[in-house]
Amino acid sequence: MKFLIHSLAPTLVAAFLLSSSVFANELVANGKVIDQDKCYACHAKKTGFGNGDMIYARSDSKVTTLAKLNSMISVCNTELRLDLFPEDEADVSKYLNEQFYNFKP
Ligand code: HEC
Repeated sequence: MKFLIHSLAPTLVAAFLLSSSVFANELVANGKVIDQDKCYACHAKKTGFGNGDMIYARSDSKVTTLAKLNSMISVCNTELRLDLFPEDEADVSKYLNEQFYNFKP
């Protein structure tokens, strides 16, 4: 075990130093998985476009700030009892913002 820790530690430190952006990407990737899994199908149906991404890109979007994006995600999550953890909501928010909305943090 000691050997394992010794041999892994430098790798972990290097990975940590290199990868704050990789971490961010992982969160975004998690957000995408959640969106595909829990959100996409219903949005596809609701918009009538058959494309669950369209709701985020619609021209009459009510989501005009990052705060509104987060509250919309909460509304969908809570109202529909999707049972997302707060971290998952945050990841979905990161993904949607990066992919569609591009609000400044
Ligand atoms: C059972 C259906 C359903 C599910 C599941 C659902 N939503 Fe929605 N969502 C809606 C509807 C309907 C609207 C449009 C509401 C409106 O126009 O007021 C909407 C709108 C939104 C919007 C606003 C889009 C815009 O720019 O106007 C966001 C953001 C959103 N949903 C996020 C999510 C996320 C994230 C999930 C999954 C964790 C999710 N929703 C799951 C039905 C759903």
